[in-house]
Amino acid sequence: MSQKLLVAPYKQLLTHFRFLVTLRSQEGKYHSLIIFRLSTSGDVALGEASESSDNIEQQLYAMEAHCPHLGADISHADIEECEDSMVLVCPWHRYDFDLRTGQSDTGLKACTYAIELRPAEGGIDEVWLQTPEEGTNWRLVELRPVSEAFADPPPPPLDLSHLSSHSTQATTPAEPEPIVPDDAPTTLIQWAVLILNTADPMLKVQRTRHAVELYRTGKLKVIGHRASNPPQPPEMPPRVDSFSKNTVDPLKVSRRKNRAVMLHALANIEQWAIDLAWDIIARYGPAHPELPPAFFSDFTKMALDESKHFTLLTARLSALSPTTPYGSMPVHASLWDSARVTFASLRARLAIIHLVHEARGLDVNPGTIEKFRRAGDSESVDVLEIIHADEVTHVTAGHRWFTWVCEREGIEPIQTFRDEVRKGWKGDIKGPFNKEAREKAGMTPEFYENLRGEQDTKGIEAKMKNLEVNKTTEPPTVALHWTSRT
Ligand code: FES
Repeated sequence: MSQKLLVAPYKQLLTHFRFLVTLRSQEGKYHSLIIFRLSTSGDVALGEASESSDNIEQQLYAMEAHCPHLGADISHADIEECEDSMVLVCPWHRYDFDLRTGQSDTGLKACTYAIELRPAEGGIDEVWLQTPEEGTNWRLVELRPVSEAFADPPPPPLDLSHLSSHSTQATTPAEPEPIVPDDAPTTLIQWAVLILNTADPMLKVQRTRHAVELYRTGKLKVIGHRASNPPQPPEMPPRVDSFSKNTVDPLKVSRRKNRAVMLHALANIEQWAIDLAWDIIARYGPAHPELPPAFFSDFTKMALDESKHFTLLTARLSALSPTTPYGSMPVHASLWDSARVTFASLRARLAIIHLVHEARGLDVNPGTIEKFRRAGDSESVDVLEIIHADEVTHVTAGHRWFTWVCEREGIEPIQTFRDEVRKGWKGDIKGPFNKEAREKAGMTPEFYENLRGEQDTKGIEAKMKNLEVNKTTEPPTVALHWTSRT
């Protein structure tokens, strides 16, 4: 018999109708599924026993998060009533699967998991989930609502008209660029490259939302990472002119003195983070045809999160300090500089960007939130708390795919991570560490304690120059560690 795992008090599921659940085993294996709550009697169920637990339980379903046919993300699939059962209709090829049994007329079967409501103290029911594999100890590492337009409205539009829409690398457009260009991308990789080449930050956000929506709802079915001639991501994503002029050496960016400066700096990091989420798709996808759709689901979700963070932060910045809008203060591109040294290896990218940089974010976020709290700025605290919760899931994704790569190669993840950091990072991995948040994301202390990077910056500069020279004849996806061995 497989075990049952506590998911949450039922009332926590009343905010949305779908939730992404991520489980991790002791051995570092991941499993994602979606909980569907079809009952619309949420308000009644809030502590008032008008609807019986049995009825509510009947309307809770859990199914693996990716279609057993070709791996489509089913988080936004249609649900239809079919005779006496409910079926999920996959957005990619419209196969349907019984939500309770997983059966399909096509002969395929999706994994489904029993859900049980158990009474708990105070008369509040708890949701328990049957776990996937017998004999495996699973732990819940993520429970987050799947965005639903009606329950999760996008942030208000942001006025960034003070920023020129001129790219530093593109020719001057006569009119604002449309979200979907005339030669609309037809694959996810093409969208990723288009968004990376989009200088205007708001257009980058809009295109991110649009592309992820297309991908999730099955209007964009082709990832394109196995295409023969996929487009190449840029060496460095362009920025609007006024922004580029403000880009300075990281050491010259003033120490964060006030809330507006901090919000501006964080928004800049989020803009680079949007690019990094698309870059991992565009740069490493084509070099790794073995990557499953779940990889692309995780990083499109990350791109969407980062674009949400960017709009939340810039909206807070304009509310707090209308005279210093986004783009008016000095910024730096050190996150991208770090990413450049990992161009040759997906494993290095996951280690340095997602398990060093993003994990560092988990350490410093609570202190930043506290500064805003002490200043009585509860609106910014709310924004930063949303960002912190999302960032835990991003480090989780980094850990998930880093261990996936290591498993394919038959190598041990902790030692491999430490080796990657020694090669791709300069200086100590600094604490103090937020051990609790790191551990939630899979980063136990053995990964990062007493670790020092010995990056040879001179060697890296020479390599980057070499890459520049070879750029016209060779795509910048230099030999990847793990494909060369598999
Ligand atoms: S029916 Fe789901 S991927 Fe094809």
